[in-house]
Amino acid sequence: MDKIRIVGGNRLKGIIPISGAKNAALPLMIASLLTKDTLTLENLPQLADVGLLQRILGNHGVDCAIAGKRPGETSDSGRTIHLTAGEIVDTTAPYELVSRMRASFWVIAPLLARMGEAKVSLPGGCAIGTRPVDLLLMALEKLGARIEIENGYVVATAAKGLRGAEIEFPKATVGGTHTAMMAASLAHGHTVLHNAAREPEIVDLAACLVKMGARIKGAGQSVVEIEGVGSLAGARHAVLPDRIEAGTYAMAVAMTGGDVLLQGARADLLQAALDALQRAGAHVGESNEGLRVTRDGGAIAPVDVVTAPFPAFPTDLQAQFMALMTRANGVARITETIFENRFMHVQELARFGAHIRLEGDTAIIEGVDRLEGAPVMATDLRASVSLVIAALAARGATTVSRVYHLDRGFERLEHKLQGCGAEIERLSGQE
Ligand code: EPZ
Repeated sequence: MDKIRIVGGNRLKGIIPISGAKNAALPLMIASLLTKDTLTLENLPQLADVGLLQRILGNHGVDCAIAGKRPGETSDSGRTIHLTAGEIVDTTAPYELVSRMRASFWVIAPLLARMGEAKVSLPGGCAIGTRPVDLLLMALEKLGARIEIENGYVVATAAKGLRGAEIEFPKATVGGTHTAMMAASLAHGHTVLHNAAREPEIVDLAACLVKMGARIKGAGQSVVEIEGVGSLAGARHAVLPDRIEAGTYAMAVAMTGGDVLLQGARADLLQAALDALQRAGAHVGESNEGLRVTRDGGAIAPVDVVTAPFPAFPTDLQAQFMALMTRANGVARITETIFENRFMHVQELARFGAHIRLEGDTAIIEGVDRLEGAPVMATDLRASVSLVIAALAARGATTVSRVYHLDRGFERLEHKLQGCGAEIERLSGQE
């Protein structure tokens, strides 16, 4: 298992190219199951989760071909993948694969819509909370599926196909909205989703589905209408830039001080987090090239944030913002409203000398003058990168173990940070 070693203290200065969004790429790849034609996705990030999903889709019969680099493309250019589900050879998604990545559960929707059946392992809990799938199953049932749970698997059938329905989500759910949009696209008749999630990744999936021939209106708003069609065709679509990766590096720059251009990043995908960063003392400017984040030598101001569905402050940046607040000149409160157990990084941040206490769903962070490097352990994807942010500003060396969590969601992290002057290296094969 690899480790990452960081010696803190360097200001970040330079350019960081922002990759395609993991959380858009995954549902887009899954959408390839909806058609027998080829779906071509550009700007695909090179991540462990993308590789795993390729294997999962391959199991269902999807042919995945990654195009080679063209002249002029660098290692930072996103890849292009051609996904062809000419024939679905298996409608079962086994425990061994689904348990490794929750989003793979979403294959249930296109398999059911196209084949009339799907058997998908329940994903189970994970480090950030219980993360049930009841709302995804509720949506499929409303669309006419029969759902049974057998030996840890969800068995969904719709022998006569799915039919359009009114679906009201009691809670906005990204996965629920993705799956309902995919299933309803091939259902007979009209579907209306109420209280749909409004995340940019939903808009990106809808845009791709529309290119494939789906009839979807309102994606990005809380009411989404879908008119089912008989079949979908192939399309070409570029994955949108990763707002969480961009927000993460923006917080790293705010932490160390410096001046970095986040190439390809978009402020409209990230406004709540950028507002919080500006209140903390960073400057953010937008240009055609991306977002430029700077912070001079001034202090980091304490800022309270509450995570909530888009367009509010994203849960996927909560840990990173907490790392920044450990150095604030005062007390900040961070409230997590999406996942009940997303505070695994608190204990690890304490190893740097941070002062954080938990009160229910709120972390109270008392800023300290100095963090000290320490051996720390990654627990989940976003928690792990918060440790990297703390390490970049800490005095001395930090080693982060279990970095496979980072590899799930951050493409070439150490290269991108090295390129901006950070002292960071991967120690391969270290326990
Ligand atoms: C997506 O997860 C993201 N994953 C998560 O990113 C992200 O944190 C989350 O949305 C919230 O923005 C991907 O896109 C692959 P939800 P998802 O359904 O769809 C509850 C990362 O680090 N809920 O929007 O699983 C749920 O427990 C990951 O990249 C139910 O109660 O999240 C949570 O409290 C982590 N029943 C809330 O809804 C359900 O059936 C929102 O979850 C479904 C969800």
